[in-house]
Amino acid sequence: MSRNQSGAQEEQPENDAESNDRTTSRRSVLHGMGALGATGLLGKAGLSEASNGALGNVPTQVADVNQTSPDLTKWIDEVPRPGVLKAEKKKNGKPLYEVEMCEVEQQLHSELPPTTVWGYEGQYPGPTIEAKQGKDVYVKWKNNLPKEHLLPVDTTLHGAAGTPEVRTVTHLHGANVEPESDGGPEAWFTQNFEEVGPTFEKKTYWYANEQPETSLWYHDHALGITRLNVYAGLAGFYFLRGKLERKLDLPKGKYEIPLVFQDRTFNEDGSLFYPTGPEEDTGEPNPNPSVVPEFFGDTSVVNGKAWPKLTVEPRKYRFRTLNGANSRFYNLKLFEYDQETGEIGDPGPTMTQIGSDGGFLKEPVEIQDRLLLGPAFRADLIVDFSDFKGQTLLLHNNAPSPFGGVAGEDPDDVQPLPEVLLIDVKEKNCKRDKSCIPNKLARIPELKPEKAVQERELPLVEGVDEFDRLKLLLGTREHPNGLEWSDPITEDPKLGTTEIWDLINTTVDTHPIHLHLVQFQVLGRRPFDVDQYNADRETGSVGPISDYYTGPLEAPPANQRGWKDTIDADPGFVTKVIAHFGEFKGLFKDFTGEYPWHCHILEHEDHEMMRPYEVLPREDKQNDNGC
Ligand code: C2O
Ligand code: CU
Ligand code: CU
Repeated sequence: MSRNQSGAQEEQPENDAESNDRTTSRRSVLHGMGALGATGLLGKAGLSEASNGALGNVPTQVADVNQTSPDLTKWIDEVPRPGVLKAEKKKNGKPLYEVEMCEVEQQLHSELPPTTVWGYEGQYPGPTIEAKQGKDVYVKWKNNLPKEHLLPVDTTLHGAAGTPEVRTVTHLHGANVEPESDGGPEAWFTQNFEEVGPTFEKKTYWYANEQPETSLWYHDHALGITRLNVYAGLAGFYFLRGKLERKLDLPKGKYEIPLVFQDRTFNEDGSLFYPTGPEEDTGEPNPNPSVVPEFFGDTSVVNGKAWPKLTVEPRKYRFRTLNGANSRFYNLKLFEYDQETGEIGDPGPTMTQIGSDGGFLKEPVEIQDRLLLGPAFRADLIVDFSDFKGQTLLLHNNAPSPFGGVAGEDPDDVQPLPEVLLIDVKEKNCKRDKSCIPNKLARIPELKPEKAVQERELPLVEGVDEFDRLKLLLGTREHPNGLEWSDPITEDPKLGTTEIWDLINTTVDTHPIHLHLVQFQVLGRRPFDVDQYNADRETGSVGPISDYYTGPLEAPPANQRGWKDTIDADPGFVTKVIAHFGEFKGLFKDFTGEYPWHCHILEHEDHEMMRPYEVLPREDKQNDNGC
C-alpha cells in the first residue's frame, strides 16, 4: 500500500522523501531497517477489529537480530539421508507408526559443536515415512520434548498466551485427510498428552493415502509457535508410493535422494540462533521476545547439514526436493563451479521436473532457466550428471529475501543465500544406469472453471497489531482489510463442489498460500490495479475484482500445471486456483469439517496470516426435490 493512501500520518523521519518507493517502504516496514514505524506507513484506517489486545507494560527490548554464524568451511560434510521409518506395530490390521519428538544434540557441521535440536525420533530432519497409495496407515505422534522452549517465545501471538510454552501438533502437509487427523493448529498436545488444545480429538492419526502418489511432508503446526518448532527441527518427508512410479524406470535406491533445503543461523557455541525481535521497535514498544516479520538464515542447511556437499556418480538421479525454510524462497540452477576460486562457470545439467506438490506432472518439464521453490513447495526432479564426469557443480539460488516475485540481484536483499549445495561428480559409475526419463507421466483430470459453483475473492493485505508491528492478513470481499484466525469462518465450500479462489495480493511480497485437505490446480495469474484496490479498501468501496484487472490471465508455468497445495501469490497479481472439495474422478476422498488455509511463510502464519475454512456436508438432493 502506498503512503498516499494511508490515513494516519504520524511523525515522519528524514527519509520521507523516499516514501513512494515501494522497495524502500517494504524494507523499512518489514525488516525494521529504517527509522520508519509501521504506523506512519500503513495507517490504521480500516483495520477494524484486528487490534484488540491489551497493551500493558511490556518491556522495551534490545533485540538480538544481527547475529552472523561463525565461519565454517563450506562443502566438507556429505549430505546425510534421513533414512526410512519402520512401522513397529499394527492397528486394525494396518501399519501403526510411533514417532516421538525429543530434544537431541546433532552435529550439523564438523567444525561446529553439536547443536541442540528437536527431532522426530531424535533426528533432524525426521525419518521418512513411506506409505503406499490406497493403503491407509496410522501414526501416533508423541511429544517427549522438554517443557521449556529452545527458542524465544512471543506470548503475545494468537494461541501463545496462557498456554503451555511447549506444545506440538504434527500436520501432514499435502495430505487429503480427515479433520481429526489433519494436525490443525489448535489440536496441540504437550508431553505425554498431559494438556491438549481446544480442537484436539485423538492421539493416533489416520491417513487414508487415497490421493496421487507424491512427496508429502510432515511438520509441526502448533498455533503461534509453528515457526519456532519447525526451526528447531520438527519436519520430515512422507512419500506416498504407487503403481505409476513402479511402472516408470526412474532412478531408485541410492539414486533417489530426498533433499530438504533450509536456512539457519548459528551462535558461536553451535546453538541455533533465532532473533528475539525486530531490530527496532515499530512505534509502540515491542514485547520481548517479539515475532519478526520474516526470518532469513545466513547458512544453507540441507537435510540437517550446514554447507554440505553431495557426491554423485555420472548418471541420472532423482531428487525429491522440498523447501522447508521458514521464509526463504529458492530459485535454483546448477552451474559448473571452481571450488578454489569460488567462480561460477557455465550452466550445469538441466533439471527435469517430473512431479509437483501433489503428484506426477502430465509429462516431464525441462526447467529452462531456474526452478522456483517457494516455502513448502516440492519438486520431484531428475538430473543427469553423465556429461559432467569429474566436475564440481554448485546449486545456486538467486531468489532475493524477501521475495517479491522477481529473481536476480536485489540491492535490498536482506540475507542473500546464493550457495546452496556443492555437487561433486565422480569419474565413474558403479554400474550401468538403466533408468530413463519417461515421455509421459500421470493422467491428471482437469478441474474446469465452468464447473465452479463459487469464485471467492480473497485479498492478502497488510495490517498492524497492537504493538504497531506489521501483520499480514487474509480477507474476503466483505472484509477487504483482513480477518484473523479467530474470526468466524467465511470460506465454507460444500462437499463435492468445485470452487475458484482468487488470491488478491495487495502487498509487496510473494506469499506462498497453502490449503489443507485439497490439492488444487492453478488457472493462472492476472495483473490488477493494486493502488486503486487499496485506495478503495481505505474508503470501504472495494468493488468486484473484475473492476481492477489491468491485463489478461497469464497461464501458469509448465511445472505448475499439475497438483499443487501451496502456490506463489505474487504482488500485483490475482492468483487463481481451482479446487474440488471431495472425491474427484477416482482421486481423493470425501471429508467434511474444518481445516486451515494460510501463508506458508511461518512468521506470517504465526502472526494471523491464517484462516479456518470448513467443508460443509453435501446438500441432500432428494430433499431439494421434495421427494
Ligand atoms: Cu505445511 Cu498448514 O502447513
Ligand atoms: Cu498443510
Ligand atoms: Cu505471507
